[in-house]
Amino acid sequence: MIRFIKPELPPPERWLAYLQPAYQNHWFSNFGPVHELFAQRLSERFGNGRRVAVPVANATAGLEAVLRALEVRGRVVVPSFTFAATAQAVLAAGATPLFCDVDPVTWELCPTALEELLDAQRASAVVTVRAFGLCRDLAPLESVCARHGVPLIVDSAAALGGTGPGVPVGHAGVAEVFSPHATKVFAIGEGGVVLCPARLAAAVRRAINFGFQDGDVVACGVNGKLSEFAAAIGLAALDELQRHIAARRATVARYLRHLAPWLERGVIAAPHAPGEPPWQTLPLLLAPDADAEALRQRCVRAGLELRRYYHPPLHRTRLFRRYGLGRTLPVTDRLCASMVCMPLHASMKPSLIDAASALFSQALTDTFHAREPIHEPTRTSARLA
Ligand SMILES: Cc1ncc(COP(=O)(O)O)c(C=O)c1O
Repeated sequence: MIRFIKPELPPPERWLAYLQPAYQNHWFSNFGPVHELFAQRLSERFGNGRRVAVPVANATAGLEAVLRALEVRGRVVVPSFTFAATAQAVLAAGATPLFCDVDPVTWELCPTALEELLDAQRASAVVTVRAFGLCRDLAPLESVCARHGVPLIVDSAAALGGTGPGVPVGHAGVAEVFSPHATKVFAIGEGGVVLCPARLAAAVRRAINFGFQDGDVVACGVNGKLSEFAAAIGLAALDELQRHIAARRATVARYLRHLAPWLERGVIAAPHAPGEPPWQTLPLLLAPDADAEALRQRCVRAGLELRRYYHPPLHRTRLFRRYGLGRTLPVTDRLCASMVCMPLHASMKPSLIDAASALFSQALTDTFHAREPIHEPTRTSARLA
């Protein structure tokens, strides 16, 4: 079976050395020396002198901490085209998710739908998601939020190491939150990183430390701190990040060369330009009437593990369907129904990419033999040079 994900964390010999200060100081949590070095390295590498990094226990806790730090109340706008954690964090912070549709081209919150929603309903914040870690320009969403006086928070779970148009991701909205979960490109097992201006960072640190400040408890908070062990793995993972991303970019380029005939026939690959994501996976959007589940099962039977993200859309899950829909979500429904994601690992050999592409093409041919063309190619079809 060609596995969908093959987590590649730095081997122990690379991160044990980073752990020494914790043992020397008998300090294993609560913003210990390894944690602080990790925070400093992340800030230097991704902060551009304007933002600082706060390591957190995971991205869900990081999103909750940012929402708590901003003291959101009432409704918070989120996409339904995302992983459950985005909306779970809103609930955890004591607010209510209000689902908004995404854009058919960018797969991120649709600025027009958001504008209409904020005109019609009050919300105290907006959380957008860099779907699949795509690193697009979020200026249109920032403008809508600025006009309505609400903060924009960016769930960039899968985007660490990517570049937006010309700049490393991490600088949109009031804060960006990353997940170095084992399944991500920057993988440490369990962990999270918040990148935000220093003043907000102080409130985020307070929110992940029980609301403590100057020896007093001043706000609602959680225990969302990152351990010294995870921070040591993070320092070693940072050393390897560029190599992992380069390998994944080469893999995507090879995939897209193999899949070119399908892209010509209208299958749409992740709309990444002008940014360059770290490529956790390669999402492919099929025709609206394509049976993505049948294709996935056919691929699994043939030895290729595909996954369907983000499926089901949150507004159709048992927990979240009781929360507010700003409008109907036709684009979300369309994307969720017919998207499949290809396996992607940093150490995928060319022969494995070739085999995965061949299995996928065969399954696609078998599944959609009768339909031609799948649908008209659009400008969103991604090409890598
Ligand atoms: C879009 C999105 N947000 C948040 C998360 C949650 O990250 P974590 O597991 O670090 O809490 C994920 C996890 O995959 C995700 O995909």
